Amino acid sequence: MQNTKPGRAKVILEKVTPETLKQYAPRLAALTTSHIMNHSRSINFLHPFTSQQAIDLFLKVSPFLSLNGPGRVIMWVAKLPPDERNDALQSINMGGEDTGHSEIVGTVQLAFHTSPNGVHRSEVRKLIVDDRYERRGIARALMIELQRVAKEEGSTLCLLDTEAGYAEHFYTKLGWKLIGYVPNYAMTPDGMEKRDAAYMYLEL
Ligand SMILES: CC(C)(COP(=O)(O)OP(=O)(O)OC[C@H]1O[C@@H](n2cnc3c(N)ncnc32)[C@H](O)[C@@H]1OP(=O)(O)O)[C@@H](O)C(=O)NCCC(=O)NCCS
Repeated sequence: MQNTKPGRAKVILEKVTPETLKQYAPRLAALTTSHIMNHSRSINFLHPFTSQQAIDLFLKVSPFLSLNGPGRVIMWVAKLPPDERNDALQSINMGGEDTGHSEIVGTVQLAFHTSPNGVHRSEVRKLIVDDRYERRGIARALMIELQRVAKEEGSTLCLLDTEAGYAEHFYTKLGWKLIGYVPNYAMTPDGMEKRDAAYMYLEL
């Protein structure tokens, strides 16, 4: 994968299968929980939650990875190539255990719609980059591949929702258009506050 701007991380994008998902889920859970614990990002969970719940958030996608028709999900991981891997950069879960697969520094899912009149629609889910590797073009690389594959697979409209005022600009740079904001959409991890969501779309 070419990602040549200075400061950019070289990454290899790999499609996840039900078999590799079993191996990668603890690492994907650790990527996610780090954003919740360290940056208070609204991703699914309220405190207290367990590492296993975060693992299950990814494992539940498994049956949809094997589908061929409507409802299928394509999932990628971004991996550092062998010459870029740093043995000191471990992946530790909330319990302090090493999850393995620290070479995985990002992930995203593309979900195709289930209803017959919406088979041309798809949705972006769970775009997450290792917080130690942010702003190095990894999410951009994942999204460019996702958008290419979505189009190749016959999707003409892609949708997503994201926390308002956070990653919207990232998507705008990739050509996504803002539909609008939904107030008080998701709670902060401590349950103390509700944050708005931005709904966005891209025509492919
Ligand atoms: C949002 C997220 C995926 C961005 O990942 P990233 O790898 O740091 O993004 P990139 O480095 O590919 O950024 C691409 C461009 O968007 C910009 N950008 C990235 N994150 C941004 C942000 N939060 N706000 C504004 N601009 C942002 C970058 O400056 C970059 O611009 P450039 O291409 O001109 O250099 C990452 O911060 C993350 O995992 N956040 C937590 C999970 C989350 O909220 N995901 C979104 C859910 S829909």
